[in-house]
Amino acid sequence: MSDKIFLGGGGAGYGIPQEMALKYANRHGLIAGATGTGKTVTLQILAESFSNAGVPVILADVKGDLSGLAKSGTASHKLHEAFTSRAQTIGFDDYHYHACPVTFWDLYGHQGHPVRTTVAEMGPLLLSRLLELSEAQEGILNIAFRLADEEGLPLLDLKDLQALLVWTGENRADLSLRYGNVSTASIGAIQRRLLVLENQGGGQFFGEPALELSDLMRCDAEGRGMINILAADKLMAAPGLYATFLLWLLSELFEELPEVGDPDKPRLVFFFDEAHLLFDDAPKALIDKVEQVARLIRSKGVGIYFITQNPADVPEDILGQLGNRIQHALRAFTARDRKNLKLAAETYRENPRFSTEDAIREVGVGEAVTSMLQKKGVPGVVERTLIRPPSSQLGPITDVERKAALQASGMAGKYDQTLDRHSAYEILAQRAAQAATEAEVAEEQAEAAPEPMAREFNAARRYSGSRVSRSTSRSYGKPKDTFGSALSEAVIKELKGTTGRRIVRGILGGLFKGR
Ligand SMILES: Nc1ncnc2c1ncn2[C@@H]1O[C@H](COP(=O)(O)OP(=O)(O)OP(=O)(O)O)[C@@H](O)[C@H]1O
Ligand SMILES: [Mg+2]
Repeated sequence: MSDKIFLGGGGAGYGIPQEMALKYANRHGLIAGATGTGKTVTLQILAESFSNAGVPVILADVKGDLSGLAKSGTASHKLHEAFTSRAQTIGFDDYHYHACPVTFWDLYGHQGHPVRTTVAEMGPLLLSRLLELSEAQEGILNIAFRLADEEGLPLLDLKDLQALLVWTGENRADLSLRYGNVSTASIGAIQRRLLVLENQGGGQFFGEPALELSDLMRCDAEGRGMINILAADKLMAAPGLYATFLLWLLSELFEELPEVGDPDKPRLVFFFDEAHLLFDDAPKALIDKVEQVARLIRSKGVGIYFITQNPADVPEDILGQLGNRIQHALRAFTARDRKNLKLAAETYRENPRFSTEDAIREVGVGEAVTSMLQKKGVPGVVERTLIRPPSSQLGPITDVERKAALQASGMAGKYDQTLDRHSAYEILAQRAAQAATEAEVAEEQAEAAPEPMAREFNAARRYSGSRVSRSTSRSYGKPKDTFGSALSEAVIKELKGTTGRRIVRGILGGLFKGR
């Protein structure tokens, strides 16, 4: 197997092969260019090549046109002539059509296998970003997570979080003493955000069975890497969910994968399309974490490739880490465009044969200014590269073809049904029911036979005011006791063993999850 990926032809007449070294493919990359300049096709040929080299790929299909990866190109395609003549120009002799092994995923569960995670695994930081919470509201979410941890309440789906917030509100007075002001207004605001998320269909995404990362890192029987395509056309209507989901996935990969140092080829390559959505209005803390993950995930053998119209959309610290670059044409209509173009050009190693700035303005569709990492990870001199044509179908597959692919997929059946386990919502409901019954029983007893002691106590209570009785009768230990007795041993064991661990990690561990 080759240790390189063929990108296309460079030099005068486009005859010199331009390649990416697999060894440096985990040092990240950038695909940029104005609309219609060839970004998506470049992503397609990179995905094909990684897959052929045995590297699994994750990519988001923003316009629905990447599903064609699952199907072979054909001589009857309207661009067949254009493709073959392009292949000839660049000396791509063994150009042939073939399909790639693809798994379709969909947060909404329509166009692919459902992707889910639990609220606990998402953690308070990413969740706050997803819900666009204020600092005060984020503080309350943190308290709620902490409580869930202390009380052994597994947070799996949105229902669990909603119930936890109601419970937090009910215990507001005690919680405020321990953690500072817990206001009903803030809790209400978070609840309203959760409703919005639910209305956007985000509720689907939280729950079980949660995605196992190993399912994104599979190869087919011939050793080709699976291309995991996330349907993102509908997801684009909820950009917050899109960005949060991808960040979550990145942080999970970061946490779960072992160090591998510098592998011969990446273990996984991750393409982030519409990357600007990730950084638009993102707080500095979050950008810092993305930067940190990008820097560290490399040694876990994961390559991250950002796709965006303008490289200026990517924060400078992150841009600096994107070693392999494919820059399609940028427009230069306005003064600002020209400034951006100049800045983009400055980040490349000049080629004495041409001006980088002119080249970025002039390259045609499906052509790009490229610079790949070379020996010792040094950026190569820029080249004008005519990108190779795709081997899989250009353009989307039909719904019928997609359905067939889903049925034949190795993931069929595994994630299709939602599992509703005994978690925070059910436990709190049970607790409330139990408390109500206890109160009723106590009331009945008191009415039936008021003992002399109780009468005396009640009288004393009236006399001394409510403060004393309040601090004793609403102490913290009490609900915990009723909680313990309300659950069977077996359930507790189950929670401690699996989700319990994750709750702890959701708050304490992890780059995106800690505070
Ligand atoms: N490497 C290539 N080989 C052959 N044709 C190409 C290549 N790259 C681009 N093209 C042609 O250019 C068209 C537009 O390319 P593409 O869809 O990749 O642009 P884009 O930059 O993704 O646009 P948008 O920003 O609108 O998504 C393709 O449909 C195809 O006809
Ligand atoms: Mg595109």
